[in-house]
Amino acid sequence: MILVAPAAGSAPPEGFHLTSESFKDPAHRIDAPELKVASGTRTYVVAPVQSRRAAEADGSRSPAAKLDEAIGLAAAIDLNVVGSAVVTLAEIRPSTYIGKGKVDEIKTIVEAEDITLVLMDCALSPVQQRNLERAWGAKVIDRTGLILEIFGRRARTKEGTLQVELAHLNYQKGRLVRSWTHLERQRGGGGFLGGPGETQIESDRRLLQDRIVKIERELEQVKRTRALHRVSRRKVPYPIVALVGYTNAGKSTLFNRLTRADVLAEDMLFATLDPTLRALKLPHGTKAILSDTVGFISELPTMLVAAFRATLEEVLEADVILHVRDISHGDTEAQAADVRGILESLGVEASAERALIEVWNKVDLLDGPAREALLTASRRDGDRRPVVVSAIGGEGIDLLLERIETMVSAGRLTLTVDVPPTDGAGLAWLHDNCDVLRRQTNEDGVTHVTVRVAPARVDQIRRRFGLTLVA
Ligand code: GTP
Repeated sequence: MILVAPAAGSAPPEGFHLTSESFKDPAHRIDAPELKVASGTRTYVVAPVQSRRAAEADGSRSPAAKLDEAIGLAAAIDLNVVGSAVVTLAEIRPSTYIGKGKVDEIKTIVEAEDITLVLMDCALSPVQQRNLERAWGAKVIDRTGLILEIFGRRARTKEGTLQVELAHLNYQKGRLVRSWTHLERQRGGGGFLGGPGETQIESDRRLLQDRIVKIERELEQVKRTRALHRVSRRKVPYPIVALVGYTNAGKSTLFNRLTRADVLAEDMLFATLDPTLRALKLPHGTKAILSDTVGFISELPTMLVAAFRATLEEVLEADVILHVRDISHGDTEAQAADVRGILESLGVEASAERALIEVWNKVDLLDGPAREALLTASRRDGDRRPVVVSAIGGEGIDLLLERIETMVSAGRLTLTVDVPPTDGAGLAWLHDNCDVLRRQTNEDGVTHVTVRVAPARVDQIRRRFGLTLVA
């Protein structure tokens, strides 16, 4: 779904550009973007990093880890990565981002290796993108373009799909405008709005804008429906437990392990884009709803953070957040810091109403001493101590379930209610509105029902069923 406006005056590399002409062609309409980076495309990955001092100042992620992540992102959409390099920069060049020497060096590799796509793990201006494409005779995409492509492939719900498309069109619009300014001037454009002399860029821009408006309207509708669903779900008495974490941390695997549901888990980044909900049964009978969410990544472009906020709605409403970490990953601290940063920017913090548990996953990948050190570290943090698990092997899962149950039960009350045999509706009400732990019908037909509820619901139950017994 990568759409790239043709660079002014450049000959677009074959097969990748959606040309301005193709906007007119029904087979290439903007609202049905079908131009994809094909699986198996021979790709070269470049991770530009500012020279050491700058890199140290902007975070703790090492250049090698940055490159690894970029390769992982490329693999997430099945690109065939045939080579990669970290490029250290003293400064960013306005024309080509990286220096001329490096551009030439990569050109040699591109030609020798028959590479058709270069992934630049940075944010390129349209001009830089165009110049690099020209220099290399290959398609160039930047980090935002790549993430959009990945999100586009992974979106599963209507809202997710619309949000990705919207972000994509906005990205596209920025490129269209800026990269075509020169072309527009050459054509003597402007001043011919709407008429037969209207420039191509204006009509393309208008098509994009129309589509953006249409999607925004659709999104509003979808959001309203979703809000209604949420309201009805809030009436359901179950607490919400949300999984968050850096991409590839093992959220989907843990989700499956905890709920035994058969959802997608792949050795790929971004296997989940939209929240997925499943019932979660805890050891002492408490029920909860478990929500799987999109994996976070570093340097998520701001426009995407905004676009994906709604897909994290379950997180905003969660009673317990499980922050899943791949504790075997060399960059685990930086990844965790990224996730915390995004959660903070969303206004999600641990509070009296919301517990946050760190889940240190993939412990099976650690050898003896590293494992011991980890277990010791995990015991330090008192009540907020992390739970060490292996989502694949099952280690630590029982403890995690216990911890979740303790958290969701905190503040909830267990009541026993007697329901007369004539009150079938009352029984149904309890099932709809409370977490029913036990139910037993005596010979006289009276049913004793033990329920767990939030304190706010106790009065309602007393009014409906009279005096109740607090367990
Ligand atoms: P995104 O959806 O991309 O955010 O990924 P995710 O966090 O949902 O990760 P996922 O569950 O898809 O797991 C990613 C990879 O890690 C898969 O190859 C899993 O098999 C592997 N994995 C998950 N948990 C464990 C674990 O406990 N041990 C080991 N060794 N591998 C694991």
